[in-house]
Amino acid sequence: MKVVILAGGQATRLLPLTSNTPKAMVPVLNIPFLEYVIRHLGRHRVTDVVLAQSHLAQTITDYFLDGARFGSQLTYVVETVPLGTAGAVKNAAGYLDETFLVLNGDTFTDLDISAMIDFHRQTRARLTIACTPVEDPSSYGLIETDGRSKITRFLEKPEKSQITTNMVNAGTYVVEPEVLEYIPAGTVFSFERQLFPKLLERGEPLYAYPSPAYWIDIGTPEKYHQLNRDLLSGKSNQYPFSSTQRVTIGERSQIHATARITGPAVIGDSCAIGAGVSLIGPVVIGPGCTILEETTIEDSIIWQDTRLEKQVYIKSSIVASGCHLKSNSIVENSVIGNNVTIDSGYQLKPGSKIGPGAVVKNADNQ
Ligand code: GTP
Repeated sequence: MKVVILAGGQATRLLPLTSNTPKAMVPVLNIPFLEYVIRHLGRHRVTDVVLAQSHLAQTITDYFLDGARFGSQLTYVVETVPLGTAGAVKNAAGYLDETFLVLNGDTFTDLDISAMIDFHRQTRARLTIACTPVEDPSSYGLIETDGRSKITRFLEKPEKSQITTNMVNAGTYVVEPEVLEYIPAGTVFSFERQLFPKLLERGEPLYAYPSPAYWIDIGTPEKYHQLNRDLLSGKSNQYPFSSTQRVTIGERSQIHATARITGPAVIGDSCAIGAGVSLIGPVVIGPGCTILEETTIEDSIIWQDTRLEKQVYIKSSIVASGCHLKSNSIVENSVIGNNVTIDSGYQLKPGSKIGPGAVVKNADNQ
């Protein structure tokens, strides 16, 4: 069975991390996000992958190439202008003549895809939507069903008073090719807001496949951070991180004997970690990072090739690639884009988001 992975969104909510990195390529425990998705599909023998791309397409192509390294065959279909979730699938219609899967390319899930496909065949649905229970459904697309999982209503981001279910659209669909006829060609068109209501209105059989499997979308920095924490605490079965192996250190990395690392922590290849450095998990350090004496990093993610000078303090933050945090700078609850420099002693206001390439200076240094 073929799968269309939607990987062409603008990813505005994940800025500044996605200014020049597509959402599909943000590193999760130092592995590009989309690699987990492709490998999970492969475990369910779904290896024929169509990547629907638009924004920052080349970075994805350069990494995955023809997919052979991941046991898959990849086809790239690039929109010249983004066509929305359903418009992107219509754009790939030339590759789709049998039942196919569609995945939101920002969804991480342990969903049993094989069982979902079986369910779709048993119910003879035109389209099946994986759904998952969430605590607060107000920011999601809700799905109401009858007693046999047939969908009766969609509610997009409802008011509290309208909430009648906690089952939300989990971003995986099994689709019959006839559905493509409902999507106009070359036009921006959305699964959630346009296609699903239209199919329901026309009386097409739509079914929900409920699953309690681990699921998260990485649409925002908070949820991206949460996925990293969850994998480090063993919530998904997709990362080989056991409780007996709470710290992994990449090849050629040098850790000073006096550095203290409290897991869970993942340290990439070719890092240099100096004397008295303290890493307090959950922590992820990307490859090629240099961390100088007595710096402390707690509950944070540092992307590759970042340099942290002496006595830097980072807590509950994400620092992207190629950054330079000078000595005694402090970063808490913040998100820092690629190639940012933070001056010595600078205390970033908690909750900051710093765009790529910024040089953050103390007033008296300007
Ligand atoms: P925000 O700007 O933060 O809302 O993110 P987004 O642009 O990624 O939109 P959203 O989270 O709703 O997208 C869900 C999935 O669909 C993501 O994997 C996107 O990459 C993908 N997607 C959204 N719009 C398009 C599009 O126009 N074309 C393609 N090919 N994929 C899209």
